[in-house]
Amino acid sequence: MSEFPIHPVPANFADAHIDAERYAELYRRSLEEPEAFWSEQAEAFLDWLAPWETVCSYDFTTGDASWFSGGKLNVSQNCIDRHLPARAEQAALLWEGDDPADSRTITYAELKDAVCRLANALKARGVGKGDRVCIYMPMIPEAAFAMLACARIGAIHSVVFGGFSPEALKDRIIDADCCALITADEGLRGGKPIPLKANADKALTHCPGVHSCIVVRRTGGDIGWDAERDAWYHELVATAPAECEPEPMDAEDPLFILYTSGSTGKPKGVLHTTGGYLLQAAMSFKYVFDYRDGEVYWCTADVGWVTGHTYIVYGPLANGAISLVFEGVPTYPDAGRCWEVVDKHKVNTFYTAPTAIRALQAVGDEPVKRASRETLRLLGTVGEPINPEAWEWYYRVVGDGRCPVVDTWWQTETGAHMITPLPGATALKPGSASFPFFGVELALLAEDGSEIEGPGAGYLVVKRSWPSQIRSVYGDHQRMVDTYFSHYPGYYFTGDGASRDEDGYYWITGRVDDVLNVSGHRMGTAEVESALVLHDKIAEAAVVGFPHDIKGQGIYCYVTPMQGVEPDEQLKAELIALCVQEIGPIAKPDVIQWAPGLPKTRSGKIMRRILRKIAENELDGLGDTSTLADPAVVDNLVENRPG
Ligand code: WT7
Repeated sequence: MSEFPIHPVPANFADAHIDAERYAELYRRSLEEPEAFWSEQAEAFLDWLAPWETVCSYDFTTGDASWFSGGKLNVSQNCIDRHLPARAEQAALLWEGDDPADSRTITYAELKDAVCRLANALKARGVGKGDRVCIYMPMIPEAAFAMLACARIGAIHSVVFGGFSPEALKDRIIDADCCALITADEGLRGGKPIPLKANADKALTHCPGVHSCIVVRRTGGDIGWDAERDAWYHELVATAPAECEPEPMDAEDPLFILYTSGSTGKPKGVLHTTGGYLLQAAMSFKYVFDYRDGEVYWCTADVGWVTGHTYIVYGPLANGAISLVFEGVPTYPDAGRCWEVVDKHKVNTFYTAPTAIRALQAVGDEPVKRASRETLRLLGTVGEPINPEAWEWYYRVVGDGRCPVVDTWWQTETGAHMITPLPGATALKPGSASFPFFGVELALLAEDGSEIEGPGAGYLVVKRSWPSQIRSVYGDHQRMVDTYFSHYPGYYFTGDGASRDEDGYYWITGRVDDVLNVSGHRMGTAEVESALVLHDKIAEAAVVGFPHDIKGQGIYCYVTPMQGVEPDEQLKAELIALCVQEIGPIAKPDVIQWAPGLPKTRSGKIMRRILRKIAENELDGLGDTSTLADPAVVDNLVENRPG
């Protein structure tokens, strides 16, 4: 599959938690004796307040799944209190600010204090079990405190990425019917302030259900204030009691909602529950990163994405680990920042997205070589397929050929790693996520739904429930069934295509639906199209992805102006601004092409296949256009292709 060499398990991973033999044995057992396997893991990894009655029951025609039902536990107790006897004074979080001069250490004892105080402050404001709390925060420790405080009292958090616009924030608050919002005055990224409170104020004008807005003072910048609704975080926690009993939660009680994009409609609120989610988060963290006590682990994701939930907060803290929280960006003050931070905090494991690796690779090796990186032991990637060239650069230059690279495939809906190498067990093939994690049973399906045996390519599906599986789409359970369990009944449909080679390695090829992956951020083409057609000079729009050297995929928009409108640069600028306003800066179009007409079938369906080919500049592969209502529109688009 790749001309790049295979990297065998290095000698310094000979004593890893899981070696090749143990992976084979445990994987077999996880499928053949799932009840025994998962009972053992649940006992080994988590503290339970009451035992479960049933390990798992599920039905993949309806998508229903329940893990450890009857069992009781609390996530914040598992992530904090139980570590106190051994590590009260050990760091739980290391915070590195946007400015290299800013950093903080939060020990497990301090984490308990901060989380309990905020939990009590939330309670005092009337927030209780089952209530939804929106978190719209920069990457500061208080973001993790907020998540854990919700978990402590049984409130359901919905973290909204701080880069989302007021409009996007409003939609998510309303959809989850949140009663409180936790935010900051401003964020700080790459030296620039992000107006979080101002954005929140705009959103909240349309959210009468939000009775409380708790504001962390991060920059001290000027903000608006609603004395009735707003409260300073530091004032609330100063007077709140420092002890808060963790609420005993059922294993299937909701833990969080996290919005993600699909091929149609508005983003979906993916619902995760308590026991199964935390178990797979904890277990995958320990085994995939081969985590050893006392090591420093750094995941560069934002807590606004699932990677931040599972692999900055819940997975690491459930293991009593030291998790580094980074406020800034990899290129500020310059492209050497990540490696400087690695040396400064003696980071052992570094986990990032391919887009960041490609961006840093483009700058050259010098900023990397400036730092020693001698503490690094393991590297990881997540979020999109990694091209073998970027993989090799990461391995050779960043890791000095000494650190295995784990390419982890999973999704917001899967909650935790699903396909990934284990560094002590798996010989690495650059560009392959390799093998399924424990308990994950995969298949590749052909178009007709038949399973492909042996080497081949097809739709990637999962054949049985796993503990951190999506439980519902918040407020619209049928949408979960339709999206994931109806394409091929009996299977979970991932939306990704993949191939399997002669050694059984999986290679993810990317989305097979109308979902874009721009710099590791998932976005529905329909969302961008809806933003574009809000403009009163625009009649119609069709959006596709195209290969982009750094971002993985770029956003290519075909836009049809209203009759009589002369499109110009001004209109283009307005459309770009509209996408930023409706979604956020991550949705900024890369290319806008004026399209007098779009290629449609006689029944009016837009032929995206053709639009993708034109965007990719693969003009020989346009295929049969004779079924189009007006084949001439294709010629027009090809002739007027920008660039
Ligand atoms: C989609 C899920 C999972 C955390 C971050 C993204 C793509 C994710 C990989 C990988 C190839 C990957 C898939 C998937 N993806 N990891 N290692 N190799 N593709 O979560 O926003 O829910 O996006 O990201 O297309 O379906 P997400």
